[in-house]
Parts: sequence; structure tokens; C-alpha cells
Amino acid sequence: MLLPLHALLSQEEVARLRALIEQADWVDGNATSGHQARLVKNNLQLPEESPEAQQGGQIVLAALARHAGFIAAALPVKIYPPMFNSYAGGQALGLHVDNAVRPLPRGGTSVRCDLSMTVFLEEPDRYDGGELTIETAFGVQQVKLGAGDAVLYPAGSLHRVEPVTRGRRLASFFWIQSMVRDHEARSALLDLDQSIQQLSGDLGEGHAGLVKLTGLYHNLLRRWTDV
Ligand code: NI
Repeated sequence: MLLPLHALLSQEEVARLRALIEQADWVDGNATSGHQARLVKNNLQLPEESPEAQQGGQIVLAALARHAGFIAAALPVKIYPPMFNSYAGGQALGLHVDNAVRPLPRGGTSVRCDLSMTVFLEEPDRYDGGELTIETAFGVQQVKLGAGDAVLYPAGSLHRVEPVTRGRRLASFFWIQSMVRDHEARSALLDLDQSIQQLSGDLGEGHAGLVKLTGLYHNLLRRWTDV
């Protein structure tokens, strides 16, 4: 499942976020990389502990919390604090798979990275390259969305960021632990949820068949959830 989320952030939020992070101190993205990523990573990143990254992360988290499409698709139980990166002057990120588990930066437990998310913070006509290239079961897909748009994809898929040859690509990225670990099961629940929403519009929410289908949704979720 590769799911674009259009206008996750409003234009006002994008502007506020950019004003916050653009004047922050960026560092070499390898500061936080594992061994394999260090071999392929060439970008700048905001240190996770910087106040700008933390305040910016709150803007992203608030937008996720009110986005019904995100909740339905990801069924999130934990979200890693959003991070921010920047690519310019030919910088790129080579082909890799994201780490399976990330300890939370401020202590406590870890996040199992079921899903990866990128939120684009620059308009696509302001830079060349910088596509997020993801290898899926249906072939290679390239994603380059508008400022404020996001894409959700399985963290286990091979992916890379193409070299940015003009301008600068700014983005937020992070991982999500889902209530439902299995991608096929989560996709089936999303299909069922969307069908119920559609039928509710056509038949009215009290329809007896819809009450049964809604029960089926919750009973499958109960069966498949691991929280
Ligand atoms: Ni990655």
C-alpha cells in the first residue's frame, strides 16, 4: 500500500513550519544513521533534540491526529517524533530499507516501524529531482508531491531519494507502529472501512446490513490487532 495524503498540512501550517525550521542549525544527516544508511545517505537533518525540530514535529503530529484518512489507513498506535531533512546540490539517499525498530529519542519504549511517512514541505516546481522512489509489488513508483502533501508506505519496502539537482527539497519523515502489523490485513480493513463509509452515504447509517458490516470491521480488528 502506497497512499498519498493530500493537504495533510494547510498552506499556513507549511509556512509556519518552514519559518521555524529554516533558521535552525542543520547537521549532516549521518549523525543519526545506522551502519547501512551511512553508506548511502547524503543530506542535512535537524538534530532530533533541537527545539525547532520538536516544535515542528508537534505541528505535523497535530495534523495527523485530525486526518481521518491517515487514521483509517495507518491505524496508528505509536508515532516516532517527526524529523526533518533537506537535500540540495546533488544530495541524495541511496536504496535502503528502514530500520525495523527505533528506540524513542527521549527514552521509554521503542517504535516498531511498520509504516514510513514523508511530508513534502517544498513545492515540486521549486526543485529538480528529489523523487521518493519506492519499489512496490506493482513495480517502481516515484512520488513527488506538493508542499503539505504526504505519502504513507510500508517501511519494509526498498526506497531511495533521487539526487536534487536544482533548488532544495525540504521534508519531514518518520515512522508509525500500527495496531495491525500485517500489511494485507491492514489494507483489507481499510477497504472494508471505505466501503462502509460509502454505503452509509447511500443507505443511511442505521441500515441493518451496515450495522453487521461495522461489527465485522471491529471483530476483524479485534482479531488482528496486537496492542
Ligand atoms: Ni528510508
